[in-house]
Amino acid sequence: MLQFVSNKGGGKPVDFETAILDGFAVDGGLYVPETLPKISKEQLENWKGLSYVDLAFEILSLFIERSIISETELKDILQTAYTPFEKEEIIPLHKLSSRNETYIMELFHGPTISFKDVGLAFLVNLVNFFLERKDEHLTLVVATTGDTGPATAYFAAGKSNLDAWVLYPKGLITEEQERQMTTLPHANIHPVGVSDCPDGGDDLDAVISKLYANNRFKKKLKLSSVNSINWGRVMMQTVHYFYGYLQVVDNVDEKINVSVPSGGFGNLCAGGLARKMGLPIKTLVAANNKNACLDRIFSDGVFSKAPIFETASSAIDILIPFNFWRYLYFSLEKDTTNIKKWMDGFKETGHVAFDKETFETYKEGFLSNSASDEETLDLIKEIYNKESYLLDPHGAVSLHASDVLKKELGDEKLICLATAHPAKFPETINKALHTSITPKGATHHTVETAKRLCEKVYLCKYAHLEEALSDAMETNWDLTKGK
Ligand SMILES: Cc1ncc(COP(=O)(O)O)c(C=O)c1O
Repeated sequence: MLQFVSNKGGGKPVDFETAILDGFAVDGGLYVPETLPKISKEQLENWKGLSYVDLAFEILSLFIERSIISETELKDILQTAYTPFEKEEIIPLHKLSSRNETYIMELFHGPTISFKDVGLAFLVNLVNFFLERKDEHLTLVVATTGDTGPATAYFAAGKSNLDAWVLYPKGLITEEQERQMTTLPHANIHPVGVSDCPDGGDDLDAVISKLYANNRFKKKLKLSSVNSINWGRVMMQTVHYFYGYLQVVDNVDEKINVSVPSGGFGNLCAGGLARKMGLPIKTLVAANNKNACLDRIFSDGVFSKAPIFETASSAIDILIPFNFWRYLYFSLEKDTTNIKKWMDGFKETGHVAFDKETFETYKEGFLSNSASDEETLDLIKEIYNKESYLLDPHGAVSLHASDVLKKELGDEKLICLATAHPAKFPETINKALHTSITPKGATHHTVETAKRLCEKVYLCKYAHLEEALSDAMETNWDLTKGK
């Protein structure tokens, strides 16, 4: 049976269901499959032409034993998860006409119009499936830089066995993103707007870690998380790399490049693992904005926390790419001793400088870049003017990085991931296009509907968050589930 272990080496191996429901491993590490399944050329060849959902079924089956979820159950969960997506292809690819063999992978056709829908559609439905089967209830707590929160709230809304608390840094996400969370009427959804966060969304993760460390609280409310510390998110995100590859290549001997707008490294970690499973990706580009956390890791060999900047690509205003620690488990041949040393060291000092050998090993097959806001906005304008195609600021960051790194990347086909719909960032789009009239491509019917609905939200200052939040959560638990 495929076992899941902590990347820090502590605790006992667990099965898939436990890894998903627990979120964090017992030693505070991140769950990883003990070994990664390998894909042969023949398998890849056979998967050509599969729909997104059928391909997902094949890939997930490599990680999930049939004794845990049967074939029919897995197919049903996938079907339910992806039915609310607007495009039949789920994640269509758009070929740019002003670049050579460059495709934009549109990951934003889910119900809350960002790539978080792609992973969370499956994960939240999976978690609820396990809970219904055991007749148990869980409390999900997630922090968001604008997109994880809406997707978690949407997929958890009305689910019988889940409560979801979604924390967002008030004023640091767009009004459109905020309303996606606050206009849901369901009694099991609890958005929390937190003002005065000195380090943006990363601050909220720190408070969630403290709630986890409180054993009495964690046990009573049965806390768990579906942010990308959860293995299920990373696993599900490997699928879009396989899908994109199979859509653009002529044969499975071809290699491609992929550029990814990144913050917490969850999406890129999935790309790195897909490649380690055997997907022919030559280079993965870590595309950052001015908060260059991954650019520092891949260009300087340093994992360090720096002051945060507010940028036009606000969903990647992230300082701590914690999924990088998960990738190291596979890159450094399961060296849990060093990973533990670095993770613990970073918690204490906010700084880790890797030795030369480690740096050379993990950066193999990665390039990085960080875009300024000016470069991001200029590129949105250029692509709109040249080909009437509207990139969101995060898609623009990924295309910008691949433009800058063109020489190093070479002539292989390129997929740039577009992780959000422009309608989540109308002000930035208007600024980029020097217009006050938002173009049609930067509007979306779900965003327009949310503008007309009542909001329901907890509000709190960051300085009081830990106490105020645990109090609100426990009170809600006692009122709805009994003491
Ligand atoms: C639109 C968008 N793009 C990219 C990211 C970064 O993803 P990751 O944290 O997986 O690197 C996020 C979320 O954090 C996002 O919301």
